[in-house]
Amino acid sequence: MQGLLNTERLFSMPTPIWYYDMSLFRRTVDAAVKAAEANGITIHYSIKANSEPRILEYMKGKGLGVDCVSGNEVKYSIEQGFDPAKIVFAGVGKSDEEILYAMKAGIGSFNCESLEELVVIEEIAAANDLRANVSLRINPEVDAKTHKFMTTGLEMDKFGIPKKDMARVVEILLHSSHVNFKGLHFHIGSQITDVENVFTNECISANGIVAFFEENGFPVENIDLGGGLGIDYYNPDSHDIPEFELWFSTLRERMKLRPGQKLHVEPGRSLVGQCVSLLSRVIFVKEGENKTFVILDTGMNDLIRPALYHAYHKIENLTASSERLMVYDVVGPICESADVLAVDRVLPVTKRGDILAIRSTGAYGSVMSSSYNMRNPARVVFSDDL
Ligand code: LLP
Repeated sequence: MQGLLNTERLFSMPTPIWYYDMSLFRRTVDAAVKAAEANGITIHYSIKANSEPRILEYMKGKGLGVDCVSGNEVKYSIEQGFDPAKIVFAGVGKSDEEILYAMKAGIGSFNCESLEELVVIEEIAAANDLRANVSLRINPEVDAKTHKFMTTGLEMDKFGIPKKDMARVVEILLHSSHVNFKGLHFHIGSQITDVENVFTNECISANGIVAFFEENGFPVENIDLGGGLGIDYYNPDSHDIPEFELWFSTLRERMKLRPGQKLHVEPGRSLVGQCVSLLSRVIFVKEGENKTFVILDTGMNDLIRPALYHAYHKIENLTASSERLMVYDVVGPICESADVLAVDRVLPVTKRGDILAIRSTGAYGSVMSSSYNMRNPARVVFSDDL
């Protein structure tokens, strides 16, 4: 594992640990910002992926905005010092309280996901004598070619306004005196690896939808194409920085922009995924009937991705003393059969007390953790502090 500093000190600490390689984190954000600037794109970091204040501080300093999906995410982002005008707020089920809070806070725009929500935003704004900036999230009906739990832009998905409702949306907008129509929003899914093809398809669909609104008298100022850029879970060291330039240049080349229109994106995973490893101690190596289990002090309580999506995370034994390889099932301590981090994984001979690194856990890792079985949260260690 690259970027591991002061291992003696690190390995003497209690585990499990979310270990942040801050140098890689900064290089990743810098690469994204450079590619975004080169292509005239504004980034709103999708804070749901990881909300650690230390990383937010750096992103804020680089001028990023935030993509939120709950009132608490909006509130937290503002508390962390982000400019409310750079906050966008999506989500299929915003409560009245969340809508009013975000409206009063003066967020950049609501990414409105249904006709019903649009009507409620207008009502709440009118009742409070406020105006709300609204972008409409239209379901572009594009296949992200990713895990079925991570697609959001197909007809069957719950997200966004169905294309069939676009004419009705225009009708509602015409009668909404407290809504400023700011633009359109799309997000087709997460962990997209067929970058050029999938995002080209997104742009083809988005171009048609933008044209529809402009032809109906609603100029589209902001075009937000969502997040979704995948990371390489199999080769985190040789492919540590995701393909921001390919993603952004595809969007810029494929979107037919007229003067005055701005492109926005909402990356989460690609900015933070690779820079964190979950370090864990081996409690037991247990010989089962026909399997050998490596039992760790971390499991689905800290990292639920393998249990929830059968997600692959590379695992390394950082303290192995033998070169000999063995096949193991790597499991956690939780009383659930799904608490399995890896099946039939080849590792160097592993023993009680070894420290394993579960790689690429910066996105949707700690934010999705729980205290199930009354377990303590994993501690956080930054490379900068070692
Ligand atoms: N924008 C919207 C509206 C989203 O729903 C999401 C993610 C993003 C942006 C950021 O997408 P990203 O760049 O991270 O792909 N828990 C799953 C991923 C769920 C993604 C939810 N939405 C996982 O662990 O893989």
